[in-house]
Amino acid sequence: MFPEHFLWGGASAANQYEGGYAEEGKGLNCIDVMSSGSYGVQRRTKWQMPDGTVGISALCFGGDKEIPVGAVPILDPDHELVYPSHTGSDFYHHYKEDIKLMAEMGFKCFRLSINWARIFPTGQEEEPLQAGLDFYDKVFEECHQYGIEPLVTLSHYETPLQLAIDYNGWASRKVVDHFFHYAKTVIDYYKDKVKYWLTFNEINCIEHAPYVTAALLQGTEENIAIAAYHQFIASAKVAQYIHENYPGKEVGMMLSFGPVYGLTSDPADQLAAYKAMEANLYYSDVQMKGELSPFKLQEYKEKGIVLPILEGDLELLKEGVCDFVSFSCYGSTTVTTHEEDSVGEGNMVRGVKNPYLETNAWGWPTDPQCLRLTTNILYNRYGKPMWPVENGIGWSDQLTKDHQVHDDYRIRYLQQNLQSLKDAIEKDRLPIMGYTMWSAIDLVSNGEGEMNKRYGFVYVDRDNVGNGTYNRYPKDSFEWYKRVIATNGEDLSDLEAR
Ligand code: BG6
Repeated sequence: MFPEHFLWGGASAANQYEGGYAEEGKGLNCIDVMSSGSYGVQRRTKWQMPDGTVGISALCFGGDKEIPVGAVPILDPDHELVYPSHTGSDFYHHYKEDIKLMAEMGFKCFRLSINWARIFPTGQEEEPLQAGLDFYDKVFEECHQYGIEPLVTLSHYETPLQLAIDYNGWASRKVVDHFFHYAKTVIDYYKDKVKYWLTFNEINCIEHAPYVTAALLQGTEENIAIAAYHQFIASAKVAQYIHENYPGKEVGMMLSFGPVYGLTSDPADQLAAYKAMEANLYYSDVQMKGELSPFKLQEYKEKGIVLPILEGDLELLKEGVCDFVSFSCYGSTTVTTHEEDSVGEGNMVRGVKNPYLETNAWGWPTDPQCLRLTTNILYNRYGKPMWPVENGIGWSDQLTKDHQVHDDYRIRYLQQNLQSLKDAIEKDRLPIMGYTMWSAIDLVSNGEGEMNKRYGFVYVDRDNVGNGTYNRYPKDSFEWYKRVIATNGEDLSDLEAR
């Protein structure tokens, strides 16, 4: 049985969902200058050199190496590019309607992020923008009216662009101070409204997407290592602040994780799979154990990378460990040391095709055991409560003439995944706090910046370039999930069988 008071819900991220990118004084985020892409087409940005030369580059997943040193990302003066985050799903103007829909499904929890640049437009102001604080205040108020607990991510790919320009983002320790000022401001301001906080979304994805996750214009290996270290310090400061000032509140770390399998029983493949998981767990080790792995430090040393460890930092990491492990898990990854030309897909992590698993149109494998395996691995390592805060399937949903979406594939995916979570709870006796499906309502995808890849229980009428009414239409999965929540996860049966 799922525990009593299990936090059922759905998730979102401000930069993909909110829109209102320039409303009421909001500053630009790094992502606001990234264009939409589509399957196989990378997101791009325009940039300008001090001498006025303008260029265009892929700027998401490793593509940031194409940005010349000294170039500044800019909004496209020629309007060649389309920016999906500017309108998102327009939660900024639809929040009441959306939260009502979530309440109708019976949500106990809604995961969202605060857009840092809505509170501090350049990330460097002393005083917060009142309009930004008011917006989230209204959102939280609305949630509580329906008994929905907000789960709030402080940083879900929303670093203000100016911090990338002025400091090369998280490569500078100055950004730790600016972030902490922002974090304290919102934690204090919403002290009566938010109980659960997450520090950095998918902190380990910095290795694959240094610009998006850490505002690094120069995403060298050294800058990535240093920026990740700065995020650890920032996370520890936040956890310590919450623990000292707000007993009873909880702070979680957030890891992108899924089991990694070796394609064959060749021990070399199994070792490769183990190593791939360990590489990700470095990030959670720091936040859950307060330790920098000696193996990682050795690896850095061999590469000539020196972490800027200041006096008191190591004690801070120990004191600022998180209370729970949250994670995103969409499926699993399969790796091999053998020649293999079948490349698997993912927005940040790619492996090879697993013959036992189905994939969606973007090539992402769905894995009926992934939540059970993930929670076992994380619990054996940390012994702390866990929370899958992202799990879902992207699909090119079709809206019928009478405004329905028959997303039986999503229901099937969720049946398998929730059964796997239930098994982790019932058979393995693991402590799981909640489940927030990605995504509550349709939003723009992160990897491609397209709308065509939909995840929500509710269809939003907008297309890849932002056209549409932005009207909301519940999908079949909406009714299905409502019943799941109403029975606290007991009824996972098909809609027709009910
Ligand atoms: C996670 C991110 O990586 O996966 C989300 O935290 C993202 O922001 C989600 O949207 C799904 O990925 P995508 O690329 O299909 O949107």
